[in-house]
Amino acid sequence: MTAVTSDIEKAAGVLRAGGLVAFPTETVYGLGANAEDSAAVARVFQVKGRPPSHPLIVHIGGGEHLGDWTEDVPATARLLAERFWPGPLTLVLRRGRRVPLEATGGLETVALRVPAHPVALALLSAFGGGVAAPSANRFGSVSPTTASHVRAELGDAVDFVLDGGPCAVGVESTIVDATGEVPSVLRPGGVTREDLEAVLGRSLAVHSTSHVRVPGQHPSHYAPRARVVLVEPEKVVAEAEFAQELGHQVGVLLPPTFAGAPVKAHAVVAVPGSTTAYARGLYGFLRELDQRGCDLIVASLPVEEGLGLAIANRLRRAAGPRPSD
Ligand code: TXA
Ligand code: MG
Repeated sequence: MTAVTSDIEKAAGVLRAGGLVAFPTETVYGLGANAEDSAAVARVFQVKGRPPSHPLIVHIGGGEHLGDWTEDVPATARLLAERFWPGPLTLVLRRGRRVPLEATGGLETVALRVPAHPVALALLSAFGGGVAAPSANRFGSVSPTTASHVRAELGDAVDFVLDGGPCAVGVESTIVDATGEVPSVLRPGGVTREDLEAVLGRSLAVHSTSHVRVPGQHPSHYAPRARVVLVEPEKVVAEAEFAQELGHQVGVLLPPTFAGAPVKAHAVVAVPGSTTAYARGLYGFLRELDQRGCDLIVASLPVEEGLGLAIANRLRRAAGPRPSD
C-alpha cells in the first residue's frame, strides 16, 4: 500500500513527538528522526546498531533551505544543489549551529540532501524541519528498497513506516565533499560522476572509502548474510559450480553476457543488462539470495562507468572482510 495524506500527517506527528519514521526516497528507504532532537537522533543509532561517531544525512525539503543548515554555501555547492536537487546527491558542508553534533557524529561538517520522492518531499513539507536519516537497515547490512524490507529488518523498533513503493534508483546517494575549493566524491551513488563532471567542468577525485569516519571499522558493508566472492565475468559460472560441488549453497549474480546459460548452483539471478535496472534491483537480489538459503554469492563487477561505479563500490564492500574474519 502506498502512503496517503493521512499517513504523511501521522508520520510528521511522530517526528515532532521525537519518534522514528521509516520513509521512502528515490535511492533507498531512510530511518528518520527530527534532526534537531538529540534524543531522537540517538535512538536512530541505537535501532541501527550504528557507532555514534558515524554521521547521518540531514534531509531537507528544498535547496532554498540550504543556508539554514550550514555555515556557508560555496558557489560550487550552490551550483550542484541547483542542478541535482531534488535528487540522489548529498553535499557535505560546514555544520550550521542548528545541527546537533549527535547527527554529525561529532564532525564540524554536515551531510545534506533533498530527496526526489513525492512521499519524502510531502513528509518534509508537513514536518517543516530537517530529518536526519541513515538507510533503514541494521548497521553493515543491505539497504532496504521496499517498505517490506524495512518491516522485515527493523519491525517494531520503528514507530511508523511510510510505504512509497519500491525505490527507483536502488543505490544510495552520491556524497560530494563540497567544503573545500575542490569538490571530491566520498561515495559513488545515484548521480553519476560523469554528470557531476559535466556540470562542474572539471574531473573529480573519487575517495570511495574515506566517507567511513570510524577508525578500525570493517570494510564489509552493504553486505548480505551470505559471503560474497567477486571474480571475472567469464569465470562466474565455473567458480559457482566449483563452490557448489564443494558443498556450498551457491547463489549466482549471472552477468548479462551469460543470460540463459545453465548453471549448476542453488539459485541464479540474471543481472539486467542496463545499469539503471541493475542498480534498482541490486539490494533486492542480494536479499533474495539470502532468503533462498545461499551461503555464498558469486558475482562479477560491472564496467565502472555511470551507475556501474556505484554498483561496483557496493559489491566490493559486500565482499569485504567480515568481523569474524
Ligand atoms: O541515499 C542515501 O544517501 C540514503 C537515503 C536514506 O537518503 N541515506 C544513506 O545514509 O545512505 P547512510 O547513513 O546509510 O549513509 C550516509 C553516509 C555515511 O557513510 C556517512 O559516513 C556519510 O554519509 N556522511 C554523513 N555525514 C558526513 C560528513 N559530515 N562527512 C562525511 N561523510 C558523511
Ligand atoms: Mg547505509
